[in-house]
Amino acid sequence: MKQFGTRSGRLVAAALAGAALAVVGIAAAPAQDAAVGDVANGKRLYLADGCFECHGRAGQGGAMNYQTPALAQLELPVESFVAFLREAPNDMPAYSANVLSDKDAADIHAFLRSLPGRKPVKDFPLLNQ
Ligand code: HEC
Repeated sequence: MKQFGTRSGRLVAAALAGAALAVVGIAAAPAQDAAVGDVANGKRLYLADGCFECHGRAGQGGAMNYQTPALAQLELPVESFVAFLREAPNDMPAYSANVLSDKDAADIHAFLRSLPGRKPVKDFPLLNQ
């Protein structure tokens, strides 16, 4: 009986995972070109969750303990972004859905897309004399 419970539990988990993937798949299509999240909430979370400590307040990247990529104007589609957060490699901590929901992660994504990123050299008069 106990084993049966475990197995059906697994089946339910698999079904839920399938449903979640389907939802992500449907939501993914329009998210490709336009950021759909709440930029203000994304900014709040980016600061509150400590992303800025490694990636910089303006998403400029950093090198405090090790090289950290810039995130401003991030080109990663939102679904890849969320997947990356769930299982971040190497020195980046992973953020499970328990600490950062898909919606909140999408808001951070929108905030990062809204950041201006690096200015080209030609926009600095001092560097063009
Ligand atoms: C402790 C430092 C640290 C914190 C905190 C951190 N990151 Fe990272 N992040 C990294 C490092 C280091 C990498 C490069 C990972 C690798 O080795 O590939 C990275 C990579 C990334 C990438 C991939 C960028 C690319 O172009 O490949 C994204 C997206 C990202 N982080 C988003 C976030 C977000 C959003 C948060 C907050 C929820 C966050 N990170 C918090 C250190 C950090």
